[in-house]
Amino acid sequence: MVELKLKAKSTESKARTGVIVTPHGEFETPVFMPVGTNGTVKGLWQDQLEELDARIILGNAFHLFLRPGLNVLRNFGGLHKFMSWKHSILTDSGGFQVFSLKEKKITDDGVKFRSPLDGRALFFTPELSSEIQEAIGSDIAMAFDECVEPSANKDYVRQSVKRTTVWAERFLLSHKGQSMQSLFGIVQGGFFGDLREESAARITSLDFEGFALGGLSVGEDFQTTERILSGSVNLLPEERPRYLMGIGSPELIMAAVENGIDMFDCVLPTRLGRHGAALTSNGRINLKSSTNKEDKRPVDPDCSCKVCSTYSRAYIHHLFIRDEILGKILLSYHNISFLMQFVKRIRQAILDDRLAEFKEHCIETGLIQTE
Ligand code: GUN
Ligand code: ZN
Repeated sequence: MVELKLKAKSTESKARTGVIVTPHGEFETPVFMPVGTNGTVKGLWQDQLEELDARIILGNAFHLFLRPGLNVLRNFGGLHKFMSWKHSILTDSGGFQVFSLKEKKITDDGVKFRSPLDGRALFFTPELSSEIQEAIGSDIAMAFDECVEPSANKDYVRQSVKRTTVWAERFLLSHKGQSMQSLFGIVQGGFFGDLREESAARITSLDFEGFALGGLSVGEDFQTTERILSGSVNLLPEERPRYLMGIGSPELIMAAVENGIDMFDCVLPTRLGRHGAALTSNGRINLKSSTNKEDKRPVDPDCSCKVCSTYSRAYIHHLFIRDEILGKILLSYHNISFLMQFVKRIRQAILDDRLAEFKEHCIETGLIQTE
């Protein structure tokens, strides 16, 4: 059971702000959801996520099925208890991860592949994904979908839209329904406007509590993402949560929000952090670069996070040069904090109905890059 309570709508765009209530509490939307694929947001403690106002994080059915496995998850009574996280969790179905494996065989029944762990033959189906997500006990479980390659031709994508619909129906049917878990459907259709329409019509006719756009941010250019996004959101019901999967750059977050998206997730902040890069109010910087060697300034002088009020660029640069794990931890923390602060300002701007002005400001400072 999730409930979306809308608080305000922008008059300048399709943006909206509100609250989503789940069995593990509530969070304000638009929301950035940090990714914790393996039951950990890499480099951060659960306490720190809380301190950064994260109230919903992601887990992944595919990874958690491989390790720790269903027995451990069931013995602990689900992922919340296993990882000591008391707020909401959304799980991805595994669709996306299975499809990014090199060797796989996709049929209308499901996907056959070899376990990346031991080469054992595995068969992923909507039913198995539902069973895993139920064992995880996430508040929101995503339907098992097919995310097609960006290069897929139209005939293939047409077939795939049909398959994703049938899988969505099977996913709904197999869900035991004894839990409080909410199920979200995923719209596919590649970069074909008419197939996106068809997929949205089919998926939204099913009994899901929220809807996601999948198959985006898979290597296409910004204009293509925006075209599909702006053409798709109107096809999703106004009163249900809308989720754009796998995006997290400031540019795409702004585009998503302007198009009426409520939820998004991305590995970007933690991945950049591990590679020595930081998101700042003036764009990305790389702390590995020797230009930081003597720099006493914080990573981002406009950031209110603990890392920025405590450490210098020079110190973090030193940690990366010495390959100390603290460098990765500090930047992951700052980057998540940065996106959480950015999205909080977006919510306030929607409440005040000045989102366009806020976007202009972000473009001027370089927070949002336009080329
Ligand atoms: N994460 C990012 N894109 C997708 C998608 O298309 N499907 C699923 N299941 N997860 C995603
Ligand atoms: Zn900071």
